[in-house]
Formats: sequence, C-alpha cells, structure tokens
Amino acid sequence: MAVTVTLKVNGVERTVTTDPQRPLLDVLREEFGLTGTKYGCGEGRCGACTVLMDGQRALSCVTPVAEADRKAITTIEGLAKGDVLHPVQEAFLEEGAMQCGYCTSGMILSAVALLRENPHPTDEQIVEGMNGNICRCNGYVKITHAVRRAAQKMQR
Ligand code: FES
Ligand code: FES
Repeated sequence: MAVTVTLKVNGVERTVTTDPQRPLLDVLREEFGLTGTKYGCGEGRCGACTVLMDGQRALSCVTPVAEADRKAITTIEGLAKGDVLHPVQEAFLEEGAMQCGYCTSGMILSAVALLRENPHPTDEQIVEGMNGNICRCNGYVKITHAVRRAAQKMQR
C-alpha cells in the first residue's frame, strides 16, 4: 500500500505518495528529477548513490523512502550556494579528481560527511573514510588529494 512521505530535499520540503519500500534513490531521480545521484550496483556496495540524510551518509539505493520520512536529504545538487561551489566540489575540480565522473557525486557527498566528522584527517584516514566509495576509473590518488585539499580549504 502506498504511503505519503515528506522529505526536506536540499532545503525544500517535498512530498511523494509511493511504495514505502521504494528506494530513496528512485524517488530522488524519478520523482524529483535529481539525477546527480547515480545508480551503480543497486545493492549498497559501491557508494555511487551516496546522499546525506540528516547530515549522515546514506546509500540511497538501499534506503527505503519511508526511512527518510521527515529527514533532511542533501544531494549533489544541494551543495553549491548559487554559483559558489562547496569547497569539496572546488577541490575535486582543482585536482581533476574525476574521469568518467560516475562516482563523483557519491565521492563528494562522502567527503563532505567525512570532513564534518573529522576536519583534519590524515591521508590514511581519508583512504579509510572513503573506503565505501568505488571508482571504476581507479582515480583514487587524485580523489585522496582532492579530499586533502578540501580539508585545507575548509580550515581557512
Ligand atoms: S548504487 Fe548504491 S551502493 Fe551502489
Ligand atoms: S571517475 Fe569514473 S568511476 Fe570514478
């Protein structure tokens, strides 16, 4: 039976009536047109679908939309302030930390959460903290540099 769920997506309250078990990822992409969040494995193993739910990382492909009811969801579309990119977005661009870009939005949201939890990570902590996000283009060196650069930017 369908339920009505209210989410605060990137600061805007949105309502959807749907199957409570439907993945949050489907709702974001198909109901709200927020296609920056990507479908990779669909089973919680790659991190491509990472969003923030009440500030914590969530894998939206395995998060039933009912679990997100009344929660604040941040997607890649919600990070910039107008034309001003989030420091993590800037750092990824400056380091060229993307090839095909498919993993990038999930990587950036994971990095935002990581730097919120630990604003001064060592390289080892960055690697460990980004461990749930897979880059099939193998861009890990530049991604690590980008997270380090973002941490430096956010300390200024
Ligand atoms: S698509 Fe969600 S973890 Fe891979
Ligand atoms: S840049 Fe292609 S999957 Fe990471």
